Order: sequence, then C-alpha cells, then structure tokens
Amino acid sequence: QTRDPFIERIPKVELHIHIEGTLTPELKWEFAQRNAMPLKHPRTGTVFSSLAELQDSHDTMKASNGDRMDNAEETMSFFEAYYGGFLVLKTKRDYFDLAMHYFERAARMNVRYCEVFFDPQGHTRTGVTWEIMMGGFREAQEKAWKELKVESTWIMCFLRDESPESAMEHYVAALEYRHMIVGIGLDSNEDQRPPVLFEEVFARARADGFCITAHCDVGKTYPVEHIRQTVSDLGRTGADRIDHGLNVVDDPAVMNLIREKGLGMTICPWSYIRHQPFDEVFERIRILFDAGIKIAIGSDDPAFMEDTWIHENLLIARKYCKFTDGEILKLAKDAVDMSWASDEVKRDIL
Ligand code: HPA
Ligand code: ZN
Repeated sequence: QTRDPFIERIPKVELHIHIEGTLTPELKWEFAQRNAMPLKHPRTGTVFSSLAELQDSHDTMKASNGDRMDNAEETMSFFEAYYGGFLVLKTKRDYFDLAMHYFERAARMNVRYCEVFFDPQGHTRTGVTWEIMMGGFREAQEKAWKELKVESTWIMCFLRDESPESAMEHYVAALEYRHMIVGIGLDSNEDQRPPVLFEEVFARARADGFCITAHCDVGKTYPVEHIRQTVSDLGRTGADRIDHGLNVVDDPAVMNLIREKGLGMTICPWSYIRHQPFDEVFERIRILFDAGIKIAIGSDDPAFMEDTWIHENLLIARKYCKFTDGEILKLAKDAVDMSWASDEVKRDIL
C-alpha cells in the first residue's frame, strides 16, 4: 500500500468503532492463555491449539471474499465469531488491555478524539460485572488521555436481537456510569429488528440527555424503513446520527430528510465491501457526499476485517471516491462537527 502523508497527518475523530471489534486474534489468544480458557470454534466446538489456527478462523472477511456475505446464514457466522470472542474477557485487566490496545493504535493514527461503542449485554451474559467492564475501560481511557492525548467517551449499544426489556435493564444499570457514556446506539443482527422496537429505552435516554444513534443496513438487505424510523422517530424526535445506511440513496425522500435535519452518517467502507458490489459502495458514498450530507469515515470492527483501521478506511474511500485533499479535509471537519464532544474539545481538534 502506498503511503498517503496527507491522511497520515490529518487530525482524526473516530465515531464508528466497536471496542470488541478491536479484539485481534493475538489479544484473544493472550487473554485465553492467561485466563486458562480453551478457545473453541463457535460453531464446531473444536479447540484451537495454536494462534495460527485461531487467526485463520478469525478472518471472516477472507472467507467471504469473492463470495459476498449477504445472506443470513453467513452473517450469523460473523456474529458467532464476534460474540463468541467475548468469552475470553474475564478480568478488569482484560478490559483495560483491550481498550488500551485500541487507544495506542488510535494515537499512532493521529486520532485525537473517539466515541467508542461497547455492547454491555454481550459481557453481562458471560458473567462479567459492570465494575470489571467499566472499571477497565475507565482506567484505559484516563491513561490514554494523560499519556497519549487521545480523548475518548463511550456509546452504549443495545443488541437488537435481544429483548427491549433486556435493553432497559442494561440502560438502568449503566446509569451508575453515565459520566463515561455520551450516547446510546443499536447494533447486532438487524434481521426483523426495526429500531422502533426499542423506542421506550431510546425515548428515556433522550429525556435523560444522552445522544442517540442506530446501526442501519450493514449490507443492503434491510428495509430503508429502518433508516426512516431512526431519522424521524427514534427517541421521539429522531436520532442525532445514523450508523451506516448506504441504501438510503434508494430513497430520495429519506435522504432529503437526513440532509434537512443536518444528520451525519458514519460510514465504514471495509465493512460494506464484503456484502455488496465494490463499485456500488463507493458510488453511494460519493452520492451522499455530493448531496451535502455529513459523513464520518469509521472502521467498525478492524480485527475482523483484515486489520483495517480508520486509516485504511480513509485510504480506500479516498482512492475509490476520488476524494481530493480538500474533500478529505471536509470529511475530517464533518466528523468533528458530527461528534458529541463539547465545543471546547471540538475547537482543539482541527
Ligand atoms: N453489524 C452489526 N452490529 C455490529 C457489527 C456489524 O458489523 N459489528 C459490531 N456490531
Ligand atoms: Zn458498527
């Protein structure tokens, strides 16, 4: 890959990264070893006997290259690999190391500020306590700020394939940590799970002062109606941002609404090219950008997508959308603008 000094140097804001999506096979192996846990293939139950074997199975991208991952069965295998990986996270030190590993990476890419997703339900269901999870995150966050000058906050996502009641229980439990959390999101398997199912908890979060967002359509197979609900209904007034949602270009009315409301979209090119035709991905990003919709390029789950971080996502967006330096700068500024940082922090970034 050729180097791109402009992209390397530009101060970055990352608004779409899942901390669990940064769990590389190497970290997974390390945590499993020190917690004396056998690592099993989530579907077959076979125990991995080496890091190399684990690495092989981990790359769901490679497995689906050329054979697009756009049916429910294959999407399951991503979620199985992904949520299966949570099992190795046991101690506060594991959570600290996971987050610190990301912050160090972020610092090397000149990320100055990030809003990081986490999925508490995926952790409580393996028996981890809030204190272990949030305690580890908190320590890493403080160290990252002090030593790396990477500022961060968290977005708590609900698993949309779990019940609205579970989301509400987790919301209430998280209030003890609300000083760490800027916003509420929605992720995991979107099949048959429209955002309005979670209206009650989003409305409550909105009333309590949280910002809100939701994942929409990571792969072109879900209704634009999910985007419309996110834009117009979620939290009663509609969300503050949309995560993904490239298929909105099929619906000019909803696209217009996004523009009129000034909502930003977080866009992660490396996530889409495993689901949908390569050229179409970049055409659609370009259409949104040219329509004047704010876009923040993000990385989603770098450890599951051939090690592609925000830097690699910016490179591929630049190459195939043909973004000029000026347009890359506009993307960087829009990301700052779309962020939920205070005005003071925003001023310091760019
Ligand atoms: N899709 C939906 N939810 C997710 C993903 C994804 O790719 N990664 C982490 N949560
Ligand atoms: Zn995501």
